[in-house]
Amino acid sequence: MTDQAAVEKRLAALRELIDEYNYHYYVLDDPSVPDVEYDRLMRELIALEAANPALVTADSPTQRVGASTTMTSFAEVRHEIPMLSLDNAFSDEEMDDFDRRVRERLASEETVEYDCEPKLDGLALSLRYEHGRLVYGATRGDGYAGEDITANVRTLPSIPLKLRGEHFPEKLEVRGEVYMPKAGFERLNNMLTNAGEKTFVNPRNAAAGSLRQKDPSVTARRPLEFCAYSVAVADASHLPDTQSGMLEQVQQWGFRINPEMRVTRGIKGCLDYYREMMEKRDDLPYEIDGIVFKVNRLDLQNQLGFISRAPRWAIAYKFPAQEVMTVVRDVEFQVGRTGAVTPVARLEPVFVGGVTVSNATLHNMDEIHRLDLHRGDAVIVRRAGDVIPQVVKVIPERRPADATVVELPTSCPVCGSDVLQVEGEAVARCTGGLYCAAQRKEAIKHFASRRAMDIEGLGDRLVELLVDEGLISSVADLYVLREDQVAGLERMGQKSATNLIQAIDGSRRPELWRFIYALGIREVGEATAKALAQDFGDLKALQEADLERLQLVNDVGPIVAGHVHSFFRQPHNLETIEALIERGVHWQAPETRPAERPLAGQTYVLTGTLQTMTRDEAKARLEALGAKVSGSVSAKTSCVVAGEAAGSKLTKAESLGIRVVDEQGFLALLAELAG
Ligand code: IVH
Repeated sequence: MTDQAAVEKRLAALRELIDEYNYHYYVLDDPSVPDVEYDRLMRELIALEAANPALVTADSPTQRVGASTTMTSFAEVRHEIPMLSLDNAFSDEEMDDFDRRVRERLASEETVEYDCEPKLDGLALSLRYEHGRLVYGATRGDGYAGEDITANVRTLPSIPLKLRGEHFPEKLEVRGEVYMPKAGFERLNNMLTNAGEKTFVNPRNAAAGSLRQKDPSVTARRPLEFCAYSVAVADASHLPDTQSGMLEQVQQWGFRINPEMRVTRGIKGCLDYYREMMEKRDDLPYEIDGIVFKVNRLDLQNQLGFISRAPRWAIAYKFPAQEVMTVVRDVEFQVGRTGAVTPVARLEPVFVGGVTVSNATLHNMDEIHRLDLHRGDAVIVRRAGDVIPQVVKVIPERRPADATVVELPTSCPVCGSDVLQVEGEAVARCTGGLYCAAQRKEAIKHFASRRAMDIEGLGDRLVELLVDEGLISSVADLYVLREDQVAGLERMGQKSATNLIQAIDGSRRPELWRFIYALGIREVGEATAKALAQDFGDLKALQEADLERLQLVNDVGPIVAGHVHSFFRQPHNLETIEALIERGVHWQAPETRPAERPLAGQTYVLTGTLQTMTRDEAKARLEALGAKVSGSVSAKTSCVVAGEAAGSKLTKAESLGIRVVDEQGFLALLAELAG
């Protein structure tokens, strides 16, 4: 093949792929690849066309940026003032270049003032107001013409149908982002799952899909919000002369603006803000994919003007992508502590959400069927915040010919016992119980973990080694383990062996709740273990309790009671407990002196970072005083302790009028109650 023919072939392939992706993205609201993949192909096409200008065709996707709006039944709206897009920066250097270009063009040595705004991950909307009344709402479309979605837009509570106040221009367009907050997105997807319907890949697609509904009553039920970020107006002479001032003005007219918006000076201010927001990203109630920096003075904006489709006075500094494409090399089945057989995708390693990911949980077989996932498939992997990586979508167009169907194994991959799936339950389980080495290992790992018996140095790998080498087969064996046995193990020296045996020794007197939790009874987490310890005060009483008695305990329902009851009816569990006692494990009874529990009945929420203690310590202190510590703020919350960089929980507490104390206040409270 000649070079020319090779280039033409690649161009055709790129155009076809991009057209296909555009259709999925813009018409079906169901993107088939992540943005980074799309951007990569688009950049390749732009570069290839730039190098071969004779081969540019009129219908190339580069000649159309954005998709046609004629494929749907929404009417077209021409934008009087075009809706621009933004240039992107991906590194501090590119930000530096941006700031330098701005100053060079302004021929000024002065530090530039920038307005900084989170880049909301939703879709752009232009709202046209005439004489203060909403006339229409339109999508961005290709920037010059979009779709008339007024009927849908009117259902959003954060969009005023009539402007507040009086001093607004006769004709005005307020532009901003429509997005779906994270919590609303979760709720919507749960609802769709329960209804057996297709879920959305991410909040942005959910927002897009919800806004382009043919039936406005569907849109009305979707948790959409609008946040304004710019104003388009023919005559701005009576309006504020800065971007930030303009947004404050817009707020007066009745729009939500981003509370994180801030004005800063120079590139240093921008980079500081960027990092600060990157830290805060996971705590924000909505998704952002970067920061938009805008020259704050509008006269300077005018002076700088535009280049092709983007302003010279603004840039979007993107955060690391939270969704990327990769390939599922294999699907393996792991056996957990309770015998749950869980499929795990082994991935071609990818960098996503700031870390390299090579595994993703697939939860259960239902999930595999829902995704229609085969071994060898190209998939979209998403990792947002601290959440474990998820496979959110298979890209069917990319399925290789040798992809294979994933089936639930009929026997346990570890011990060979039958795998059973109870009718109506999503989870399949190995029936091997403690005969299964995987379940034994998981049980021992859990027993040793920090929140349970807290045996320092006994990590997951060491437990596996000890079981594999036949040195232990139950948690009770830990307490007869000898130093010389451990010292001979791979990567274990004499010193670490001594430390380990000491740590095991030191774990012999746990608090009762920790011991109960460490047993690994199904569905008995920390909170339930504490409630059981508090209520029974002793293991013997708990062991003998019947189902009815168990259900008298706070938060214990029939299912948990059933698990606890049957746990203590298994001979091997009783033998293990007896062996533990024989080998010197002896718990401390809980303290139940009501007079010393001044916070009984109150619910506290901890948020942000405390300087003087860890969150676990703070939690323990509060619980010792009788308070319940919860992870989320609700109307029932008594008080929120807000450390440094507290985020959405603090905002929520404030909006609910709940008492908030800072770290100082918290320490004072502890001192007062302890004293
Ligand atoms: S300003 C002329 N500000 O990002 C400048 N855009 O990649 C127009 N976006 O289409 C945009 N948050 O939908 C601006 N605070 C913000 C934004 C923002 C999100 C979106 C917007 C735009 C896209 C550009």
